[in-house]
This record gives sequence, C-alpha cells and structure tokens, in this order.
Amino acid sequence: MQQRHFYDCPLSEKLLYTGFLLIVGTGYLMALVYLYTSHQGHDGKPGLSIVDIVDAYYGNRSGTKLEAAIRGPMAGYLRDQEDRNEIVAWLKAGGSEKEYTTKIHPILEKSCLQCHSPDSGLKIPDLSSYSGISTVANIDTGVSLHTLMKLSHIHLFGIGLVALGIGLIFRLALMADIPKAFLMIMPFAAIFADILAWFLTKWDPVYAYTVVTAGALLGLGWAGQILISLYQLWFLQEPEKADLSG
Ligand code: HEC
Repeated sequence: MQQRHFYDCPLSEKLLYTGFLLIVGTGYLMALVYLYTSHQGHDGKPGLSIVDIVDAYYGNRSGTKLEAAIRGPMAGYLRDQEDRNEIVAWLKAGGSEKEYTTKIHPILEKSCLQCHSPDSGLKIPDLSSYSGISTVANIDTGVSLHTLMKLSHIHLFGIGLVALGIGLIFRLALMADIPKAFLMIMPFAAIFADILAWFLTKWDPVYAYTVVTAGALLGLGWAGQILISLYQLWFLQEPEKADLSG
C-alpha cells in the first residue's frame, strides 16, 4: 500500500491529530514547569541546577551534625583516624542500624559514650542508641528506591503511551527515511536513558548529567515530531505526481 501522508487525511482526521498534539504538547510544558518548581532552589540558590538534581536522587549526604562534630569540636576525642573514616563511611552509606550496632557503637563506646549517654546527666545528644544517634545522623539519601520504582513504572507506561501516540501521528510525515527514523526512536531512547539514570544517580551523582541530557533529548524529539506534524498537517500541499516520479 502507498504510504499515507498528512495531505491524504480528511479534515476530521487532521482535527483529531491536531487536538491530540496540542493537548500532549501543553501537558509536556506543564510537566517542565512542575519539574522546575519542585526541584529548583534545593541547593539554596534560585533556579534549577545540577546540584538540585543530585539532591533529589542522590540526596545531600554531607553536613550531618555528627560529621561536623567529629571533624570539628569532637575531633579530639577520636584518637584513631581509622575510626573517623569508619563513621564517615557509615554516614555516607545511609547510616543503617545494623552497621551502627556492629561497627559504630564499639567506636563510640571507646571514645564518646562517657559523655554522650543518658547516665552522664549532660544535656547533649545520646549516642548510645540508634534512635539517639539518628537525631544527629539523619542524612538525606534522596528519593528512596521504592519511590523510584513507583515513579519509573508510572513514567514508563505513561510516557511510553504518549510517545506511541505522537509517533503514530508523526509516521505520516513526509521526510527522508533516516532522519525520520532517528527522530522516531529518539524519545524512546531518551525515556529509557532518563529512567536508568535516576537509578544510577542514586549510586553516583555524576549521572545527574545523564538525567538532564536525556530529558533535553526527549523534549527535542517530541518538539520535532509535534512541530513537523502540525506544520505538515495544515501547510504541506501534496507534491505534484510528476515530482515524485522524477
Ligand atoms: C568529655 C565529654 C565529651 C566527649 C568524650 C564527647 N563529647 Fe560530644 N559533646 C560534648 C558536649 C559538652 C557537647 C555540647 C556542647 C557543644 O555542642 O559543643 C557535645 C556535642 C556533641 C554533638 C552535637 C553537636 C551539635 O551540633 O548539636 C555531637 C554530634 C557530638 N558531640 C559527637 C561526639 C562524638 C562522635 C564523640 C566521640 C568521638 C564525642 N562527641 C565525644 C561532650 C563530649
């Protein structure tokens, strides 16, 4: 069968496509604004920066009171440099209760608990229990894996369907095969890379750049497909038959 193009479509079909493209285009712009307002300013500076993205997925793993204390006023009580590294590594890894009991408590017992326990009578953080140390060690490791799972399956289904809808319309565009195929696959590849990068960013903040790049490619891919489709829907005339055979 001869490949159909936009100029072959009856008016009602053109209106259907136009309506859909305008709605999802607006939806995409809304999503961008939402993304901007929900992540911007995390790092204390206005505007969306790479640090804001890192904060969202990797978390802000420095600057707990505990780390500040062992690098500052309480440093003198930790005679062993190894002990300090151990505590910092524990904080960065998320400060689990299991490791607190096996690794951290023995260190604190040796160096800190003579003052930092309820029996000392001092009004200072109690480091002898996990709930006590949590008040000075609650670190922010960003979005939880569980939440990421939830977000990513909603995204993959939702964005996948929108990409399919836009792609089904865009396939009627009159364009050279290679650029058309490239533009067709771009949003799908970008969604995939984006979601993968969310998880990688939890592990290493450098992948925040991939999140941003993939997001930009998705936007470009969709903008290309939508604008080309809208233009050809309403402005492209059927080329003369003679032009095609020639
Ligand atoms: C000789 C007693 C003593 C020892 C030993 C001691 N501390 Fe402290 N610590 C204090 C006192 C007093 C304060 C409260 C005054 C202050 O904040 O400077 C405090 C405050 C702190 C705070 C709270 C800081 C804040 O910003 O609220 C942390 C965290 C802390 N110590 C950790 C430790 C750790 C970890 C050790 C062991 C390496 C330790 N301390 C050993 C007396 C001690």
